[in-house]
Amino acid sequence: MKGCMLRNVVSIDDLTNEEIESLFRLADEFLEKMSVPGHPHRLTGRNDLAQGRILATIFAEPSTRTRLSFESAMLRLGGQVISSADANTSSAAKGESIADAVRVVENYADLIVIRHSFEGAARAAADYTSIPVINAGDGSHEHPTQTLCDLYTLRIARKTKSGEIQTDALRDLNVVLRGDLHDGRTAHSLAFALARFGSQILPDPAPGCDFPEHVRRRLARDYGCFPLISSDVDNLPQGAFPADVVYVTPEEPHQLALLPDVDNVWVRLSKRQQKSIRGMKHVDAFYATRLQLERIPPEHRDQMRKQYGSIDAKFLNEKKYRHSRVLHPLPRTDELSYELDRDERGVYFQQAAYGVPVRMALIAALLELQPGLLSPVEAPGKYAEYQHPQGIHCGNKRCVTRQKTEMHYLVPKFWIVDNQPLTTRCIYCDFEIEPKIVAQASTRRFTDATSTWREIDLNDMVIFDDETSAVSAGYQRNQVMLSQKP
Ligand code: NCD
Repeated sequence: MKGCMLRNVVSIDDLTNEEIESLFRLADEFLEKMSVPGHPHRLTGRNDLAQGRILATIFAEPSTRTRLSFESAMLRLGGQVISSADANTSSAAKGESIADAVRVVENYADLIVIRHSFEGAARAAADYTSIPVINAGDGSHEHPTQTLCDLYTLRIARKTKSGEIQTDALRDLNVVLRGDLHDGRTAHSLAFALARFGSQILPDPAPGCDFPEHVRRRLARDYGCFPLISSDVDNLPQGAFPADVVYVTPEEPHQLALLPDVDNVWVRLSKRQQKSIRGMKHVDAFYATRLQLERIPPEHRDQMRKQYGSIDAKFLNEKKYRHSRVLHPLPRTDELSYELDRDERGVYFQQAAYGVPVRMALIAALLELQPGLLSPVEAPGKYAEYQHPQGIHCGNKRCVTRQKTEMHYLVPKFWIVDNQPLTTRCIYCDFEIEPKIVAQASTRRFTDATSTWREIDLNDMVIFDDETSAVSAGYQRNQVMLSQKP
């Protein structure tokens, strides 16, 4: 059970758009009061907002920017930092679980920032500690605080000539996401946030690096982005974008996204939507990412590296990029030419600098150093939650619930995101599966997931992948309708 602030930031969806905007206003204040003369992005000195508070950083994967900017942010708030930054010398190397690690560290600090290679690791950490947890990257899954820095950079780029920031600065932007969209966790959190704010995503993945299925499903299911095949749409501009599929929301703000690899769901564009697509003649921001080599099997690395491509000033000569900002979460490898450092469109070092004021605002909010920035409790999930020690497991091998050190204590948890077909989403890593069998624990009977399983009380329900697993768990098929538990 948490203390008074019951909040963690494990996914970008743990913050509402309004909360993100209030964090940004506080980050603006830090920049106004503490920036280095002549270097408006950089802070100096410190205040005493977090005096007496301690931040613990637990980094089980390499990091420069994220860890140091969190630590700098805490020091500039007048707080102190303790750090476990080398996975080889920390107790993880001795096989300690995430749950045990955070239950120890909570005695030493007021807030935990964790980076880990297991997908869903930060959610697992948050489940086992009573202090707030921030996800600094969990495998290929999400990196919400990088997204805060990305959005903050996009918002500042939209300043008017008089220096004002419009209230809807993050709406209706055309943003190309380029590179490794499969394993690039920053691209995932950013795509969700752009969709939520009503901006357009133009995915431009390197060969073999498309968004993974769970991201595409979440874009469609949670943000109402429906894919359209361009050949089905009259008047869609030919060759205007690097992909031939459009995702369109059915309602305002008509979030549009061009994605390859469609499923067969599609809707026809209204005249108004066609107009807004035709209007997408310019790109506001170009978000480059590096190939996540460490997550790719060694035998594929050379080939993928060869095909990856690189952006230089010539690439950005096209008219639609004339006023584009170039962002990159960094570190870069070969995908972004150094010549762009001299181009005023390249804002990636400013983006890295904003990591400090933005993370200061987040720390201040989670430690309640400035009241009213976040609602004290998380908004309830929008899907029903399912958990049972028997039955389905997450289908993602990289999920925290499937790891040797964690599987003894973590009971897989799922959202039931659809009834027809029954679809569950892992609460830790977002991976979706479509199990075939639903059973009733009290009667030890099961039925097909296509039948009347909705009658079963959620607390009495056990979901199985298939009939064989239900039978081997001691359940029997029931031909008649399963009744609700009294
Ligand atoms: C990113 C990360 O760790 O996901 N880096 C960062 O935090 N700024 C991007 C990357 O490593 O490619």
